[in-house]
Amino acid sequence: MPLFGTNVKMHQTAGASAGYVEALAQLRCREDLQLFVILPFTSLDRVAAVAHRAGIWVGAQNMHWAESGEYTGEISAPMLRDLDVDLVLLGHAERRWVFHEDDRTIARKVRSALAHGLRVVLCVGETADERDCGAAALSIARQLTIALAGVTEPERVIVAYEPVWAIGAAGTPPAPAAIAAAAATIRATCDAPLLYGGSVTAASAPGFAGVPGIDGLFVGRAAGSAAGFARTLAAAYPHLMMDHDPRSNDRISEKEAQR
Ligand code: PGA
Repeated sequence: MPLFGTNVKMHQTAGASAGYVEALAQLRCREDLQLFVILPFTSLDRVAAVAHRAGIWVGAQNMHWAESGEYTGEISAPMLRDLDVDLVLLGHAERRWVFHEDDRTIARKVRSALAHGLRVVLCVGETADERDCGAAALSIARQLTIALAGVTEPERVIVAYEPVWAIGAAGTPPAPAAIAAAAATIRATCDAPLLYGGSVTAASAPGFAGVPGIDGLFVGRAAGSAAGFARTLAAAYPHLMMDHDPRSNDRISEKEAQR
């Protein structure tokens, strides 16, 4: 089953997320397509019920590995479960490179998330330096091996391959062959569903979705509005959309704007 989701990063207040998710709940897709939205902590409680009624999974962008404790400013897996959150994003490049999370830290978080019944979207990807040294496969395999060491419920793990150099406004999209090579490396280490993420747009989505070994897409900027989410989704998986009418995008924008 293809998966399609977004991480809205630090871009939405709870009110903005409510409008966003209500608009996404209007999307009509076939049942064998799973949508998910990864939101700021402050939005989760507000949107979980609406998202779940529409069959959309809700995710958090990070969590601490401990259940509770003297960790000022942190959020734990039981706190996320208490808000009816389905999944947590771990190992995103911004957590690794801006907040200096290392592989061992990510591994502790993965184990805690799974132990508390959450799904995990685990991001892995090489830096431009690692790519240029021919060490992309080594870096991906290391990140994955450490993050999944000791994991006993691998069926709740989704891997997102996101090369660091492909993410964000300065990112450059990889060639399909590079994604296929990374997918083969990841498959050699684990058998989880595999998403591609990094500079996915409505124009590039069909190509990325069609790369062998890729089971879904993980989108940032292009899905920043509900209409952008819908456009990118419909471009990637037109055969799984029940409503092909481009005017549905206008209805979705209106719904989002009503908030
Ligand atoms: P982008 O972000 O689609 O805006 O490049 C992807 C990500 O950070 O996951």
